[in-house]
Amino acid sequence: IDPSLDLFDEIEKLKKEKNAVILAHYYQEPDIQDIADYIGDSLGLSQQAAKTDADVIVFAGVHFMAETAKILSPTKKVLLPDVKAGCSLADSCPPHLFKKFKEKYPDHLVITYVNCTAELKAMSDIVCTSSNAVQIVESLPKDQKIIFGPDKNLGAYVAKKTGRDLVLWNGACMVHEIFSREKIIRLKERYPGAKLLAHPECEDVILQMADYIGSTTGILKYASKNPGSEFIVATEAGILHQMQKENPDKTFIPAPPNNNCACNDCPHMKRNTLEKLYLCLKNGYPEVTVPQDIIAKAVKPIERMLEISA
Ligand code: 13P
Ligand code: SF4
Repeated sequence: IDPSLDLFDEIEKLKKEKNAVILAHYYQEPDIQDIADYIGDSLGLSQQAAKTDADVIVFAGVHFMAETAKILSPTKKVLLPDVKAGCSLADSCPPHLFKKFKEKYPDHLVITYVNCTAELKAMSDIVCTSSNAVQIVESLPKDQKIIFGPDKNLGAYVAKKTGRDLVLWNGACMVHEIFSREKIIRLKERYPGAKLLAHPECEDVILQMADYIGSTTGILKYASKNPGSEFIVATEAGILHQMQKENPDKTFIPAPPNNNCACNDCPHMKRNTLEKLYLCLKNGYPEVTVPQDIIAKAVKPIERMLEISA
């Protein structure tokens, strides 16, 4: 890339030329969030992907999100700035093993968290995100038997909230599992007024201490509406960009991890850069595609989710 290029200007030009829309998750780097047409949580992003009239969707997020966009808008071209932007949670549930797991519970309905492969969605009855998982489980009859996967932490949280007995797949997110309870307790001693905001992908020991539990959009809204001035944020650190932008006078502290790594960045989300975004828009690849037969099966549980959360 010519170093004299203003990537913001170039991306704007290419977007018009190609009738493209940029959808970005809150975990993306600040420059990508700033150039995006829409920033959101997984539910908001799928709703946007389903209704856009652009010809090209640049999905600044990870592979399963781009796949979901393709399933909802199969005639559009879906680009992912770095095709290797995966997800440890999606990887923790290989479809061939989930198929065997599912066979053990033939009378159970399958709810899958959106953080999974398209193939897994194709084996599901309903998809959910962290913002509607409780609502989706509650929309089902009380005696309905349910398998929930792949995130055991979100599953345990939903089971606790709804009082339902869910059969859980043993998967987790590498970013949300590293928060240290002890370090958060020490941080709370230093900032006694600080509220702990946590994503439900965190372990129960962290969720038990939280003042608010919700999706990235939920966390952002809570921080903006709450009169408090200090917040400890137990999710991927990319969300702090919007929190700080919406609330310049408030203090946001990333929850400390239990190892000595300095940050809570998702290595998959952070594979995308502004340069890669520019190049994928210019070149028309990497493109994310999903086989027709998988689209036909996976679209149903995703649409069911969108109907329930409309
Ligand atoms: P939400 O933005 O839907 O809360 O999802 C968080 C996440 O882990 C995405 O990978
Ligand atoms: Fe996957 Fe966790 Fe990264 Fe989200 S933060 S993309 S769940 S690894």
